[in-house]
Amino acid sequence: MSSIVSSQFDLHECHGGVVPELAARRHVTAIVPVVEQALQQAAVDRDDIDAIAVTQGPGLAGALVVGMNAAKGMAYALGRPLIAVNHLEAHIYANWLCDAPDLPKEPVFPILCLLVSGGHTELILMTGHGHFRHLGRTLDDAAGEAFDKGARLLGLGFPGGPAIEEAARAGNAHAFELPRAWLQGTHDFSFSGLKTALLRLTEPMREPQSDRGPETLSPTSPSGPFKPHLPPLYTAGSPITDLAAAFQDAIVEPLAVKTAQAALEFGAHTVVLAGGVAANALLRERLRHEVLRLCGPGVPVVYPRLAYCTDNAAMVAGAAAWIIRRGDLVGWEADVHPRLSLLPT
Ligand code: KG4
Ligand code: ZN
Repeated sequence: MSSIVSSQFDLHECHGGVVPELAARRHVTAIVPVVEQALQQAAVDRDDIDAIAVTQGPGLAGALVVGMNAAKGMAYALGRPLIAVNHLEAHIYANWLCDAPDLPKEPVFPILCLLVSGGHTELILMTGHGHFRHLGRTLDDAAGEAFDKGARLLGLGFPGGPAIEEAARAGNAHAFELPRAWLQGTHDFSFSGLKTALLRLTEPMREPQSDRGPETLSPTSPSGPFKPHLPPLYTAGSPITDLAAAFQDAIVEPLAVKTAQAALEFGAHTVVLAGGVAANALLRERLRHEVLRLCGPGVPVVYPRLAYCTDNAAMVAGAAAWIIRRGDLVGWEADVHPRLSLLPT
């Protein structure tokens, strides 16, 4: 009915990544206006709300606490149930939002799910609603984190995924050979070696930092004493777009190939892509290609609409609708869980 996203990129960009304290403080000021705007856009009254859903974790504690307290306040004031949603489950359930494209009908179980975000890279077998079996994960950096670190190294800005994707459009992915960690015989991933390889490759192309005067510093944040990020400067003619294309390819290829292999191995009827990195056009295309090649045309690959790939509240509400059907309501003692996983531990 409505989905309002209050972006904080402006606040964090000059730091080259998210500053947790600034994130929490921006949540404090944004949360009430965002709720008001969502109600207005949906043209519904507070009393029309059936339940309040909130992200419980995983995520940054300070930001989660702001959401949890606001949700408890609303649920208490309205006398409605509170639903605590796992952020990872919400990303997956973005694929059930009714206007998801390429969704002829609901994804059919068993579903092989590749969840790729800034903090997670996981291969999950979903055998039914709320039933998740963990197959593999990244052993070091998450795919989104790799995009962000790569973009930082290349001086392409934050968030790194869209910046690398944009730069890669003008580049040649075959101009450089970057390593892929295949971790054969497992369903795990690894991206830290790739990041180190990019660092080694680009070091000789950079201007020495000591040559740079203070005028080249990014503007400091008006919100506090947090260090600005000093983007690297490259010598003229450095092949940044080729490096971006090769780097993107080296992240996408193992993700697509290993997901398709797992889909075949576990007899998945649908492959589902989720998380911020699911917005990446090359990943969508490669995954389709690999699943078609290995599993045939009977196994569709689905992914959410672009707006529902990166963090949003619609996916939290969408997951909550399924959680309500399972009867999983929480009480007032509900707390945030910054390191919550998808499976009960
Ligand atoms: O799910 P998300 O919004 O936040 C987390 O839960 O982490 O994912 C954010 C991540 C960031 O690392 C960002 O660089 C990446 O998703 N991302 C992309 C693209 N759009 C966002 N990565 C690759 N290509 C994109 N188009
Ligand atoms: Zn997320």
